[in-house]
Amino acid sequence: MEYTIRESSGLSHRDDIAELAGRQHLIVDSGAAHHGRELARRLAERGIVHRVYPVRGGEGCKTLPELQRLCDEIQLRAQRRDLVVVVGGGAVTDLARCVAAWLWKGMPLAIVPTTPTAYVDAGIGVKGAVNRDDRKNSIGVYYPPLLVALDLGLLRGCPADVLRAGLMEVMKMALIDGGRFWELYERSSPGLLATGFQGPDALPVTRAAITSMLGHLQPNLREHELSRPVDLGHLLVGPLEMRALLPHGLAVGIDLALMLEYAAVLGLLAEDERDRAQDTIRAVGAPLCHELLTPELVQGAIEDTRRQRDGVLNLPVPERIGTVRVHPHVDGAAMREAVLRLRVRGLGASTVAVDTASATTARSTVPAGRAGSRPGRSPAQHGRQCQPTRPARPADNEQSDGPQW
Ligand SMILES: NC(=O)c1ccc[n+]([C@@H]2O[C@H](COP(=O)([O-])OP(=O)(O)OC[C@H]3O[C@@H](n4cnc5c(N)ncnc54)[C@H](O)[C@@H]3O)[C@@H](O)[C@H]2O)c1
Repeated sequence: MEYTIRESSGLSHRDDIAELAGRQHLIVDSGAAHHGRELARRLAERGIVHRVYPVRGGEGCKTLPELQRLCDEIQLRAQRRDLVVVVGGGAVTDLARCVAAWLWKGMPLAIVPTTPTAYVDAGIGVKGAVNRDDRKNSIGVYYPPLLVALDLGLLRGCPADVLRAGLMEVMKMALIDGGRFWELYERSSPGLLATGFQGPDALPVTRAAITSMLGHLQPNLREHELSRPVDLGHLLVGPLEMRALLPHGLAVGIDLALMLEYAAVLGLLAEDERDRAQDTIRAVGAPLCHELLTPELVQGAIEDTRRQRDGVLNLPVPERIGTVRVHPHVDGAAMREAVLRLRVRGLGASTVAVDTASATTARSTVPAGRAGSRPGRSPAQHGRQCQPTRPARPADNEQSDGPQW
């Protein structure tokens, strides 16, 4: 499987997309409508026949009815070798990839990411998916594009939470890689948020993230191997997105914070490294925790994930910054302890009291985190600390993670 990922600036100057096909169908995210118009103008100048299909951006577009609507509309006008072009964030690129894969069992596809998450992750891989009921990404495809056209200028104007969400995806890769990439990320993430990925660090950071991601994806594009370090931070995204209505990347950030806490409870990750990594989440104002994050929610996520991974949990655990090891099983008691500790760190709550009635409006209740907190602060500076109810102990990777954890 081969495809091209190309970096350049200025959609209006791009001819690489125009050159792919004489007839094109542009699926355009409502949040990136101006970029869609610019591309359409360029295609018109080049005499390319094209049509725009607007989609309301965000998680809500990832549904079977929306997939079917787009398939119907495009198939009404398309010929099989026309190009499908998607301009948008990760939700719309996921949806459009399904459209291209479904129509005549595969139409050529080009991807133009317009959010940081789409730029460093959703746009550059081969996965597309839609949600069913509250099941995240439960129906999907592995479908490579012909071209991914990367242009950091298209991220300009993304709302702060969309930028934060992308930063959490970058942080995941930096945590896996460690070393210089981690230091660069730690140093530059507040600036990336402030400039909307338009400052001098944006190119080196996103390049490092993409290079790292592709290195992990390339040998395992279709996920035949289910033990994947890049699944770090993705245990809880289903329930946190679908029930707490958190943006994907912010759910990833909370999951990363939990895995750091879990590794520390197990005695695998030094507490100062945990603090350093969790501080980078706070430093960009992303939440460390959410009211709905309870031991029961995590238990449900573990059971779902185990089924998705053929019965073995394969949980990536950050044992150091730069060392993520995939544990086949979970230590249930340590995970429960990690959840309770994270609630104290992130919410200042020592008890679990979930108001399920407010779950559907939870997006507006996301704690903003504490922007401005710097790496290297002592644990005591993060607010009330939880006394461990059991001593930390080494991981037992062979321990059963049966139904009661
Ligand atoms: N396929 C994969 O491998 C993969 C990887 C990571 C994430 N994802 C998916 O990506 C989605 C999250 O992506 P996301 O973080 O891009 O969020 P998103 O796609 O939900 O977009 C967030 C918001 O940003 C708006 N937007 C898009 N471009 C904009 C721009 N340039 N300026 C202003 N607003 C803009 C959208 O309209 C939307 O309202 C999730 O559905 C997740 O599952 C997929």
